[in-house]
Amino acid sequence: MWCLELLLPLLLIINDARCQWNVWVPRDISAMTNSCVVIPCTFMYPSGIRPYRGTHGIWYFGQPYPQLFPPVVFKSRTDVVHESYKGRTKLLGDLNQRNCTLLINNIGAEHSGKYYFRADLGGANMYTYPDFSELKVLDQPNIDVPEEIVSDVSLELTCYAPDNCPEMTPEIQWMYIDYLPDPEISADFLEDGNTAVLSSTLTFTPRPMHNGQLLGCRVYYPNTTLVYERLISLDIKYSPRSVWVNVSSEVMEGSSVMLHCEVDSNPPSRISWMFGDQELLWDTASNVSLSLDDVTPAQEGIYTCYGDNGYGIMNTSLYLAVNYPPREPVVNDSMTILEGSTLALHCSTQGSPAPTLTWLKDGELVGTITADELSVLEIVEVTPQGDGQYRCLAENEHGRASSSFNITVEYAPVLLEESKCTVVREGVQCVCIATGNPEPTIEFYLPDVNVTINETDGRYNFYTHTDGHTSTGMIKLREKGERVDNGGPAVNVHCSFFNTYGRESVQLELQQEKKYMMAVIVGTIGGVAVIAFIIAAVRYVGHNNKKEKTGIINLWALWQDWRGKS
Ligand SMILES: *[C@@H]1O[C@H](CO)[C@@H](O)[C@H](O)[C@H]1NC(C)=O
Ligand SMILES: *[C@@H]1O[C@H](CO)[C@@H](O)[C@H](O)[C@H]1NC(C)=O
Ligand SMILES: *[C@@H]1O[C@H](CO)[C@@H](O)[C@H](O)[C@H]1NC(C)=O
Ligand SMILES: *[C@@H]1O[C@H](CO)[C@@H](O)[C@H](O)[C@H]1NC(C)=O
Ligand SMILES: *[C@@H]1O[C@H](CO)[C@@H](O)[C@H](O)[C@H]1NC(C)=O
Ligand SMILES: *[C@@H]1O[C@H](CO)[C@@H](O)[C@H](O)[C@H]1NC(C)=O
Ligand SMILES: *[C@@H]1O[C@H](CO)[C@@H](O)[C@H](O)[C@H]1NC(C)=O
Ligand SMILES: *[C@@H]1O[C@H](CO)[C@@H](O)[C@H](O)[C@H]1NC(C)=O
Ligand SMILES: *[C@@H]1O[C@H](CO)[C@@H](O)[C@H](O)[C@H]1NC(C)=O
Repeated sequence: MWCLELLLPLLLIINDARCQWNVWVPRDISAMTNSCVVIPCTFMYPSGIRPYRGTHGIWYFGQPYPQLFPPVVFKSRTDVVHESYKGRTKLLGDLNQRNCTLLINNIGAEHSGKYYFRADLGGANMYTYPDFSELKVLDQPNIDVPEEIVSDVSLELTCYAPDNCPEMTPEIQWMYIDYLPDPEISADFLEDGNTAVLSSTLTFTPRPMHNGQLLGCRVYYPNTTLVYERLISLDIKYSPRSVWVNVSSEVMEGSSVMLHCEVDSNPPSRISWMFGDQELLWDTASNVSLSLDDVTPAQEGIYTCYGDNGYGIMNTSLYLAVNYPPREPVVNDSMTILEGSTLALHCSTQGSPAPTLTWLKDGELVGTITADELSVLEIVEVTPQGDGQYRCLAENEHGRASSSFNITVEYAPVLLEESKCTVVREGVQCVCIATGNPEPTIEFYLPDVNVTINETDGRYNFYTHTDGHTSTGMIKLREKGERVDNGGPAVNVHCSFFNTYGRESVQLELQQEKKYMMAVIVGTIGGVAVIAFIIAAVRYVGHNNKKEKTGIINLWALWQDWRGKS
């Protein structure tokens, strides 16, 4: 330990540190409260100085300037130390050996700070070394936690306990690790710059479920009551591990619906609701509710919720069905067609659920009921009976709607069997009835006289009438020239009927008129009634004889009265 005056020119430039005012103390040192600490210390002074009456030393707290009276931690010349160090400090080193190692017992938080050593070699040879040792007094152990803990990636947590108190050796335990999967613990002892640290490293692979769980490190000194604990809450980052959305659902058109999405992730995700390519809503939260008002059928479809927190993306979808009553069906326009045509009638609509389509003709069911969007009613070779109003009815559980149109079937005229000639009192009456669309025009033709009779002909008693598609023509023949003999069969009348689709001509048959027979029957019944009336009247008169002052029987009143009763 002697300073050598080295003669080598190169080395002379560099002052031998050991031959100057120098101190070696750990820059940082720590200790647990209530335990002790030993600050290792060696010092050096210029070789020219010879200590006078022994080597002495002082430890200061806080600052190195004696003129500012810093608290004295230890002083070798006297026992006088600052109040807070009384009975707590002891110099372990031998100052004559330039060993200034200091022990501080029963440390408290107030002892945290800088410690300076001052060498006192007698006379003016006193020097406070500017290098200091900074003591940290801990009431909890330190745990090294990585800045970011990611799920499913192996994690190391290290807990430290200072081991600078020779009388007591700390031990480290991990707390609340029962729930961890396969935790591994390894202890280590680090010495650095004359200070020692005991450490324990816990290794495990955290899972999302461990997020927010507590873990602890306990430092204690066996055979003492000194126990120090530090708890940490694990902040474990994990990608979205579940994206919860409502189950697929149905809503009525025009109503409102709330779609909920909840994402489990750490940190919270950017949650977004997508409909097709369109982002409807987003927020950084744990859940986001998409509210749709006055829902339309166009809003039916797949809604997907995405959760993205930078560690991963996840999505879940639902199907929103929008129900609505059938729309008014689209059908053909009203049409006029020719008998015998074949038609395909179309009816289409929208609705949800898919409506059934029913065809009605004049209120009667025709065709089959279908559940397709389009219903085609085929009419093969339409007959005049096909004429009418066609209605297509669309129905689902939410309502019904219908549309109608008319089909007009046109056809060549047809003679009806009521057409005939009959003998009447004034002569012969001929009736000709035909149907057709457009309604037929009727003419009579008398071949014997080569005469055509129609509306414009005023010579004959011609009457014509049209009701819908039925036309009735009637003539009465009286004149001799028309060759009508009572009861004679020689009636030769032709009826012609025509419209744009055809013309026909038939000879009308002469039939015996049944009206005469009817008149006889009606007359007989009438006679019986009159006889019955007379009998009733006589009985009535007898009954009321006393009341009638005039004695005149009002037969008209009686007749009315009797008719009213019968
Ligand atoms: C100083 O003294 C302490 C306590 O006696 C001792 O443990 C240490 O080894 C000494 N240091 C040196 C450098 O001799
Ligand atoms: C604690 O004390 C017991 C007996 O009192 C002793 O056997 C044991 O070695 C001590 N442990 C430590 C670490 O000093
Ligand atoms: C979706 O779920 C939320 C929360 O459970 C609920 O309030 C809401 O009514 C649900 N929406 C639908 C359409 O079911
Ligand atoms: C949804 O998020 C809000 C904050 O954004 C929160 O207050 C609420 O508790 C969450 N709801 C659920 C069911 O998690
Ligand atoms: C949505 O999630 C499914 C798996 O659930 C995945 O196959 C699909 O690629 C995801 N879509 C997007 C756009 O991330
Ligand atoms: C009815 O309408 C459909 C579609 O417009 C058309 O294809 C069809 O020919 C129409 N039917 C008739 C008889 O006009
Ligand atoms: C169909 O005819 C009826 C009368 O026969 C009429 O009341 C109705 O308005 C017509 N409908 C159409 C669509 O022309
Ligand atoms: C009937 O009269 C038309 C002219 O009105 C005439 O052309 C035709 O020859 C006549 N027929 C007969 C059979 O007389
Ligand atoms: C009636 O018959 C005459 C002669 O045949 C014809 O000129 C006239 O146009 C007819 N009138 C009608 C309304 O058919």
